[in-house]
Amino acid sequence: MYRFKPELRIPGPVPVPSAVSLQMARPVVNHRGAVFHEKFPDVLSRLQPLFGTKNPIYMITGSGTAGMETAVSNLVSPGTPVLCLVGGFFGKRWMELCTAYKAEVHVLEFPWDRGVDPDQVADFLASHPEIELIFMVHNESSTAVLNDVEGVSRARGDHQALLVVDAVSALGGTPCEMDARGLDVVVSASQKCLMMPPGAAFIALSERARAYVEKSEASRYYFDLRKYEQFLAKGETPFTPNIHIVFALEEALRMMEEEGLENVYARHLLMRDMTRAGARALGLELLVRDEDASPTLTAIKFPEADSFRQRVREKYGVEFAGGQGIHAGRVFRVGHMGYATPLDVLTALAVLEIELKKYGQATEAAERVMAAR
Ligand SMILES: Cc1ncc(COP(=O)(O)O)c(C=O)c1O
Repeated sequence: MYRFKPELRIPGPVPVPSAVSLQMARPVVNHRGAVFHEKFPDVLSRLQPLFGTKNPIYMITGSGTAGMETAVSNLVSPGTPVLCLVGGFFGKRWMELCTAYKAEVHVLEFPWDRGVDPDQVADFLASHPEIELIFMVHNESSTAVLNDVEGVSRARGDHQALLVVDAVSALGGTPCEMDARGLDVVVSASQKCLMMPPGAAFIALSERARAYVEKSEASRYYFDLRKYEQFLAKGETPFTPNIHIVFALEEALRMMEEEGLENVYARHLLMRDMTRAGARALGLELLVRDEDASPTLTAIKFPEADSFRQRVREKYGVEFAGGQGIHAGRVFRVGHMGYATPLDVLTALAVLEIELKKYGQATEAAERVMAAR
């Protein structure tokens, strides 16, 4: 294994471009001082096109789950009726968070290899007018499914429920279009498509969600978005932030702006299609049908997936992710998000091919390259 150059092909954290890493080595500045005041609101506002919102973005120091808990702790009081759409590990996390905050939790379960079905959501809401919040995942990283957030948003019709979306492994890899799609709360994190190290979550609210947060009697302190709003007006956060993530974000956004967001999204779609075509040509079975396929990662069915992953990691330094929840040990997941290119996909496919060939599973090399091309 080439320990000096690990190839992280997992769905986050992702490799970080060196221009972004270098920002993490800058001298620390005062988070209540002039340099930070000038930079922080400007950098956050440059996330707005990725969220597809004209509303402010707040940064919470913590991982993606801290972003999810920010949403729940600002919205859910004991007894709040909520609906969680669960088709994987991270949908389940919404359910666990809502349970921890003592919501009255209703769950719609979907198969862990399919997108959520907006029609079932519409049916459920028709008989449950009391639901105040719907929680769902845009890109379910445990199954490699891209969910139809727009369909679920529309399925509400004139139902009152706010739609809360985990876009942790989606934002920056696929359009979010928060305002146009009527999403009320969107949460993401630094270490996925945004090409940064872990350490920050980002969250945006619709006007309706902001009003709900304002009047909510939910208990909250570190995650209190009302405080984040007050402090953002001064160019600050209420508590000491991950200052270096702000520097890193500035550079990561510069790179994405230079490439052009449309091109960033197109690159992810190309990597999705290459991975799927290449895996199929290798005779491998994909977990998810084409209609539901994620642009940021691909899940591949494989018996004894974990020992296979270990072999690949030890011999080539290429790291794939394991299956989660019911897919543990039977699926491996290939990340192609953030700082990844079609060339990385070819490398991943080449490693798969070499290993599979040893075990008599591969067909001709040219076929794979042609399929991926
Ligand atoms: C869709 C999704 N939601 C939430 C999370 C949780 O993020 P974190 O591990 O940063 O807390 C992840 C992380 O893999 C994710 O992929």
